[in-house]
Amino acid sequence: MLKIQTKEDINQQEALKSRGNIPIHIAVIMDGNGRWAKSKGLPRVAGHRQGVESVRDIVEACAQLGVKYLTLFAFSTENWKRPKDEVSTLMRLLLKSLRDETDELHQNNIKLQAIGDIDSLPHEVQKELYEAFKKTEHNTRMTLNLALSYSGRWDILRAVKKISEMISQHEIKPADINEKLFGECLTTYQLPDPDLLIRTSGEFRISNFLLWEIAYAEIFIADVFWPDFRRNHLYRAIENYQKRERRFGLVSEQIKQIKTNEKIQRDTSKKIQAVL
Ligand code: IPE
Ligand code: IPE
Ligand code: MG
Repeated sequence: MLKIQTKEDINQQEALKSRGNIPIHIAVIMDGNGRWAKSKGLPRVAGHRQGVESVRDIVEACAQLGVKYLTLFAFSTENWKRPKDEVSTLMRLLLKSLRDETDELHQNNIKLQAIGDIDSLPHEVQKELYEAFKKTEHNTRMTLNLALSYSGRWDILRAVKKISEMISQHEIKPADINEKLFGECLTTYQLPDPDLLIRTSGEFRISNFLLWEIAYAEIFIADVFWPDFRRNHLYRAIENYQKRERRFGLVSEQIKQIKTNEKIQRDTSKKIQAVL
């Protein structure tokens, strides 16, 4: 993150920030590495390697914008079924990225965490991950959450087993199960639900990502492969998000009323602060 920010980039970020609703949590399905490479006559692995550059740029831009949580879908439960060579290359790349980038994340006050079946990852990757978690655990600027060997169904089943166990141990009754309890049993329990879900490579599907958590996420499909996705694409996605009205099942008038009430509350507390 030693790149010098251009004046134009600062201005673009300021324009987004000034609208006041930067998504708190952005989740990204980083797709299209293989096709990017193929379109250039390169092996798939070249796409994965180039994809790391996009990760750097997006992490940096999100931190600068004040996004608090960024979840990146890096490897799914189903991706284990890919050719062995590709899986081992992806694991090596993950290991190298952790080794190369953790210090910089730490210097930038970014906390690293992960969701997924971490135990299924190669031991050296696990070791590197746990060291990075430990090193960055008190950082507060942004949380970078990697989805590794993760799928939404895997997580939901895990939560169901946890809850069944709690019932069989008489810690809770079936009637105690509600959205809050269920959410607390998922690996995403420390994260708010994503506000904005971005998928690259023009595909309109979820591919077993955060199934429970994206109930009311705004979805943005970017028409470029992940290795070409850079901060300007991110800005477009955020700008698009900022123009939407999130209704959460209510009607527009109710949402407007809620926003007006929130504004009155904010203004009142500002006035009280000024008096004190
Ligand atoms: C995303 O790119 C990276 C991973 C899923 C690990 P892909 O490898 O899926 O690339 P495409 O979608 O086949 O082009
Ligand atoms: C989703 O991409 C998983 C990741 C980005 C890690 P895939 O390439 O695995 O998804 P499908 O196969 O196109 O649905
Ligand atoms: Mg893909």
